[in-house]
Amino acid sequence: MHFESLDDFLNYSKNRVEQYLNTAIGKRRASVVLSQAMAYSAVQGGKRVRAALVYGAARACGVDDVAALDPLAAAVEAMHAYSLIHDDLPAMDDDALRRGQPSCHVAFDEATAILAGDALQALAFELLVKAHGPQISAEQCLAMVACLAQASGAKGMVAGQMLDMAAAHDAVNLAQLERLHSLKTGALIVASVEIGALSQNHVGTKQIDFLRTYAQAIGLAFQVQDDILDIESDTATLGKAQGSDMINDKSTYPALLGMTAAKGRLMELHQQAKASVTEFGAAAQPLVWLADFIVTRKH
Ligand code: IPE
Ligand code: IPE
Ligand code: MG
Ligand code: MG
Ligand code: MG
Repeated sequence: MHFESLDDFLNYSKNRVEQYLNTAIGKRRASVVLSQAMAYSAVQGGKRVRAALVYGAARACGVDDVAALDPLAAAVEAMHAYSLIHDDLPAMDDDALRRGQPSCHVAFDEATAILAGDALQALAFELLVKAHGPQISAEQCLAMVACLAQASGAKGMVAGQMLDMAAAHDAVNLAQLERLHSLKTGALIVASVEIGALSQNHVGTKQIDFLRTYAQAIGLAFQVQDDILDIESDTATLGKAQGSDMINDKSTYPALLGMTAAKGRLMELHQQAKASVTEFGAAAQPLVWLADFIVTRKH
């Protein structure tokens, strides 16, 4: 895996993961509508940052078989797609636009959207298990399943979403807000990096710790930038409704600290992330690019 630039690396990750997801979902024919809703939300659009983090972390750890990574990247993107479908539901953020097209519950209906999300969540674990093969042992698979389960559930993303709902219309302090952000968005980003590292044998605990520090910083930064873009960007660029946080009276970084302090925190996290992966040298270049992208992205 050699990349000329961030764009080169992101395109590579996007093409691989979308092709893999398309095939994996296309095979599910028990309900054509369900497969269509799953593919609609999981295969089209999306920056594929979490997939890129799987490939990038594996690269930092000396990957030798890229094809073995595809089901892992697809697993984290399937989990992410499910979280977006449910996040947009009327009972949650009630957003009608996602990735530049009508949200799943608008394009299909609410029940189908809930079920497509459920099925994508299950698919994520199925894909991790299917990654077992000559490059990835049963033990590695087990560690990845445990990692994704913890990051996604009541100790991770879903807990963050619950806190996010509870914090709407309410004042939270900075520590509570950071915790909420780290759970709802950071946990899956950390899991993406860890799964990339776990795919490589002989990665030491020290290396894993460096990668985890990197991922925690960009995970939090990702949501801070998401909150900034909700104010500063526009619907056409975002592909989702600008101003959704304001309408829902969400607890966000800019709302709590103001825009200047939010951007300051973003820069701090950016430096922290980059400093954590210097140990890996040139092999960590894609991870450094991703850290740059996460804090400068416009959508
Ligand atoms: C949006 O995630 C939801 C958050 C966790 C902030 P992304 O900005 O990664 O969404 P896509 O995958 O590119 O559409
Ligand atoms: C979403 O946070 C986090 C998850 C989907 C878990 P947001 O609600 O801020 O994401 P967007 O802005 O709708 O993409
Ligand atoms: Mg939300
Ligand atoms: Mg939302
Ligand atoms: Mg948002």
